[in-house]
Amino acid sequence: MERGNFGSKVGAVLASAGSAVGLGNIWRFPTECGSNGGAAFILVYLACVFLLAMPVMVAEFVMGRASRSNTVGSYAVLAPGKPWIVSGFMGVLAGFLVLSYYSVVAGWTLDYTYETLSCGLMAESDFGKYFADFVSNPWRPVVFLLLFLLLTHFVVAVGVEKGIERYSKIMMPMLLLIMVVLVGVSITMPNAAEGIRFLLRPDFSKVTRDVILSAMGQAFFTLSVGIGTLATYASYFSKETRLFQSAMSVCVIDTLVAISAGFIIFPAVFSVGVNADSGPGLVFITLPYVFREAFAGMPLLMYVFSGLFYVLLLLAALTSSISMHEICTAYIHETFKLSRKMAATIVTSICFCLGVACSLSFGLWKDVTVMGMGFFSLFDFLTAKFLMPLGGLLICTFVGWDMRHKLVAEELNTKALPLLMILFRWVAPMGIGLVFIYGLVSA
Ligand code: PFF
Repeated sequence: MERGNFGSKVGAVLASAGSAVGLGNIWRFPTECGSNGGAAFILVYLACVFLLAMPVMVAEFVMGRASRSNTVGSYAVLAPGKPWIVSGFMGVLAGFLVLSYYSVVAGWTLDYTYETLSCGLMAESDFGKYFADFVSNPWRPVVFLLLFLLLTHFVVAVGVEKGIERYSKIMMPMLLLIMVVLVGVSITMPNAAEGIRFLLRPDFSKVTRDVILSAMGQAFFTLSVGIGTLATYASYFSKETRLFQSAMSVCVIDTLVAISAGFIIFPAVFSVGVNADSGPGLVFITLPYVFREAFAGMPLLMYVFSGLFYVLLLLAALTSSISMHEICTAYIHETFKLSRKMAATIVTSICFCLGVACSLSFGLWKDVTVMGMGFFSLFDFLTAKFLMPLGGLLICTFVGWDMRHKLVAEELNTKALPLLMILFRWVAPMGIGLVFIYGLVSA
């Protein structure tokens, strides 16, 4: 079967960075950072990014390009007949779960984009009530969930180079530009210094076991690693793409975007005097107040900047959801020999059904819980705090210990190989294992 390819190295890096940069950076990172104490969380998070999640990204790149197959297929090619393939199936399962609940928040973003651009949102008097009424409504968020999934579906169904690569090349630079403008606005607001202090001055008494597990979960989630997303993308990389350098670029871009999101949100939040730990509503409830306050008396600017922000969030969500969709679509397309469009349709339909369950867990199905969590929180917990780190542990162990060393060396072709082998073999698996045990002991 003819496989797609990224046409250029830049396209490959931008598509991977597009997968990494998403709601995880702009919505989940500030939420986690705000409820886990600010700067101290960021330090633990940075350690998790560079010591645990980055090696997993490199290992995924190696597996994907060496096998030129989807996440399940790559184990079948590189380790035929061995039980490693279970990790591939876990990846596809996680892909479905992540895409389902992610699209719910992305659907909210689509609604907010529509509402800000049509000037409806900023005319509301109580944003908290607007958000609560909206997410608990049984229909409206479901309609936006469907629209968002259809947007994702369209890009994935078109293919790798004409869809994923082309849209990433347009959307990523736009996103970075919008971010720079918004950071500039936020840090020049009155009293912004307090928010900057919150981001830069660590209070280590806040670092508990929970904070460490959350930081690791955030690191895996934000870099899209542990479930084979980037292995799938790397299977479309050309031989010339330098894997280690590309992974480092993606990690650096992703980290800069997350920290910039902090610099957009917290200075503004402190400036208007709302709570930094207001959770998932931070971006949907707090920020509209921030825009209103920051641009009081300048309605045009208020509409422009609030519109820009939600467009930014939407673009970021889209380049990420495309990559989650691709893990599942590539698997179904290549394994069951269905057309790409058919495979994509199956994935979209399953994710829509699961997504409806997640969406309803904010309203009609509020009381339906599994392990004490509604579907939305359950899917988030299962993926970010469990399947992604566990998958990462398996991927690093596989590349470090079981995959032919010569093949790994050939794919990586870098002087950093000895260091990377230490990270694959020891640091990442042991680090992830320890954080798991630490988290379990505290549970
Ligand atoms: N990294 C994405 C974000 O930060 O929003 C989320 C994500 C994408 C998670 C792809 C998992 C994945 F496979």
